[in-house]
Amino acid sequence: MASKSKAKRAKSKAAANKRVRKVAKFKSSKVAASNGLPRPSSKPWGQAGRALDGVRILDFTHVQSGPTCTQLLAYMGADVIKVERPGVGDITRGQLRDVKGADSLYFTMLNGSKRSITIDSKHAKGKEILDRLVKECDVLVENFAPGALDRMGLTFEHIHQLNPRMIVASVKGFGPGPYEDCKVYENVAQCAGGAASTTGFRDGPPLVTGAQIGDSGTGVHLALGIVTALYQRNRTGRGQKVLCAMQDGVLNLTRVKLRDQQRLKHGPLSEYSQYGEGVPFGKATPRAGNDSGGGQPGWILKCKGWESDPDAYIYFITQAPVWGSICDLIGKPEWKTDSDYATPPARLPRLRKIFDTIEQWTVTKTKFEVMDICNKHDIPVGPILSMQELSAEQSLRATGTVVEVNHPTRGPYLTVGNPIKLSDSPADVRRSPLLGEHTEEILSKVLRYSDKEIAEIAASGAITAPDKRAEAA
Ligand code: COA
Repeated sequence: MASKSKAKRAKSKAAANKRVRKVAKFKSSKVAASNGLPRPSSKPWGQAGRALDGVRILDFTHVQSGPTCTQLLAYMGADVIKVERPGVGDITRGQLRDVKGADSLYFTMLNGSKRSITIDSKHAKGKEILDRLVKECDVLVENFAPGALDRMGLTFEHIHQLNPRMIVASVKGFGPGPYEDCKVYENVAQCAGGAASTTGFRDGPPLVTGAQIGDSGTGVHLALGIVTALYQRNRTGRGQKVLCAMQDGVLNLTRVKLRDQQRLKHGPLSEYSQYGEGVPFGKATPRAGNDSGGGQPGWILKCKGWESDPDAYIYFITQAPVWGSICDLIGKPEWKTDSDYATPPARLPRLRKIFDTIEQWTVTKTKFEVMDICNKHDIPVGPILSMQELSAEQSLRATGTVVEVNHPTRGPYLTVGNPIKLSDSPADVRRSPLLGEHTEEILSKVLRYSDKEIAEIAASGAITAPDKRAEAA
């Protein structure tokens, strides 16, 4: 009797250990006494697994913001299971299509290294499968319109009842407040987050930027929120909600302009070229053209070939410590001692003239020649690189920032690999999955459905497109 209850206790202890496997994995023999961390691995760098090995993500994301986040986590080793509507999938699979019949680059470049399962989340059997997935995953990530996840029955309360360790991470357009119910896309967020009002030229309309700071920017914020919540879960044992509003993410990236808004109360913004031009400031941070956002004045200048090449330009920063070198290079050594030019405050009202003069020098050279010459003198400059140039840049290929992957229906394509380099966790950049490519694999290997059950699920219509249901039945 005693040994039976001992066996029972051992069994329930083993089951409990299994349940917490993702929270605390350290075997006691490997744990150093002082801080609870395992002993430093003796494996060679890059061969001790990947940073997020063992983390499983239920990926309900679509379009760009959410997929950016889950792709980064997949690159870091998480098992990302993307749930898509049968027959339809993420809407971007078919958007901006360049190769007939193949998933678009819009989709493939945002969904690499993931697995795809098709589930109709509004179908009774589909809901059952989702509940099982909730129990098997560590994080649910979604960027549906407000309320859509709840309408599927996946409220935070329901999820937490099934799996108290689950982290539920969401991108929404706006946080709680007057606009919380609005649907939001990239440029809406750029406008609502303060980027557009501060981008462009003073005499022109607000401008959006090509960098997707609303979508991809918020996705990166969300990824940080998720790994932070995973870290806290190691201590608390429970999951939590992570919310990133696109307006908040854009404002975070535009914080220097909120800084300038407050500085305006105390006088004009002297590093803005409008100051030197004698144009009065209004009530709000103005658009600053190509003025530098920091205390070192800069501008975009023409280089050799600008008449026919729209990208033959360079960003030139007149950093104070190298002012003497700049004067020598552009043939104005007298500016080093001239009281109108010798000090940064003296130069501020003359920036237009200074940059016009520097441009007379840059326009005689290609942007790469300017780059080579200036870097020898520690003068910070940035060539305007086109996407054509970046896609051919071998150093970006060598570091894995630009990666060519092969796709079964579209052939090879370029994608952006992991811009975050971890020395002990090499990025895992693989092609994006075809729609539903891993449905059976996930049902059988992750959720342990039998072949018979999988056949029943297929016949039920929960994982099959409406027009294919008759075949599956
Ligand atoms: N099975 C069944 N239905 C599914 C499904 C599945 N696997 N996946 C999604 N759906 C349903 C949703 O339940 C929702 O239905 P409901 O409105 O009846 O509840 C519907 O598909 C559409 O979802 P929604 O998010 O409203 O898509 P949309 O195309 O109308 O709107 C956005 C797109 C991006 C504007 C919106 O999702 C949004 O505002 N998201 C938050 C902000 C964001 O991330 N924006 C940036 C996108 S890059």
